[in-house]
Amino acid sequence: MSVSWRDANLSNWNNRAALHVRDASGFYDVDGFLKGQDALYPIEAGEIGDVAGKSLLHLQCHFGMDTLSLVRRGAVATGLDFSPVAIAAARDLSRRSGLPATFVEADLYDAPRAVPGSFDMVYSTWGTICWLPDIRAWAEIVAQKLAPGGTFYFLDSHPAAQVLEERDGRIETTYAWRTPPETPDFSTETQSYTGDVHAEPTSMYNWNHPLSDIVGGLLASGLVLESFAEHETLPYRLFPSMVPAEGRMFRLPDGAVAIPLAFSLRMRKPAS
Ligand SMILES: C[S@@+](CC[C@H](N)C(=O)[O-])C[C@H]1O[C@@H](n2cnc3c(N)ncnc32)[C@H](O)[C@@H]1O
Repeated sequence: MSVSWRDANLSNWNNRAALHVRDASGFYDVDGFLKGQDALYPIEAGEIGDVAGKSLLHLQCHFGMDTLSLVRRGAVATGLDFSPVAIAAARDLSRRSGLPATFVEADLYDAPRAVPGSFDMVYSTWGTICWLPDIRAWAEIVAQKLAPGGTFYFLDSHPAAQVLEERDGRIETTYAWRTPPETPDFSTETQSYTGDVHAEPTSMYNWNHPLSDIVGGLLASGLVLESFAEHETLPYRLFPSMVPAEGRMFRLPDGAVAIPLAFSLRMRKPAS
């Protein structure tokens, strides 16, 4: 594995956190959030259930808007992210919104050391595990951070869609479905998924993980599958030809061959 993948990704996310919280594109609608608007998208809002009074760990929380939307629902939330810029922005947003939460700057793989205790709910959505080389270790950490009887909610882009890229209007298989930990996919971008333009091109390293490794890793860590769903929308344009859909989401255009774009699951840690 390149020695610099983590440094490159950290630099990428520090840049993006600053760009995203400035919100020139309006993608995150930070002002709307501060006025009381919900940051969660319809899929997770409809699936997470009642979080009121629950202790909740939000993994890879970015600048905390989703974390704080869960606080608005009554959760007692801790957000973790490795980007100091994102964590500083999350603490600032907590202060500005008057919504209390704990924000921890730490690598996902350091969560057992960095975040004490266990939680009623662990939560991770939209664009998280593609930054992680070792999905089994991730699954073990999720299980370890759950209290007995606790729930893990996970939602992300579908591995079947992650292998594709759109070029000249054609969606083609481009990336392997399983990225070896030591040879991540490398890319450079000038614009974030929000539409905000980087001051300079920024590079990053990503991993695709098979569905069987994601669900299998969580099962092997002792969690029990309660629900699983696949979805035809995403909160960003994975492919340039995607068109707006209900609830700030995007879908494939009419006439395109339908494929699953996202999946979600709820798993429970047995009570004893
Ligand atoms: C696409 S964002 C997740 C956004 C999230 N859905 C939200 O609440 O807005 C991905 C986040 O993962 C974080 N991240 C990437 N690699 C990480 C790592 N190894 N440890 C902890 N956080 C990481 C980034 O800093 C970024 O904030």
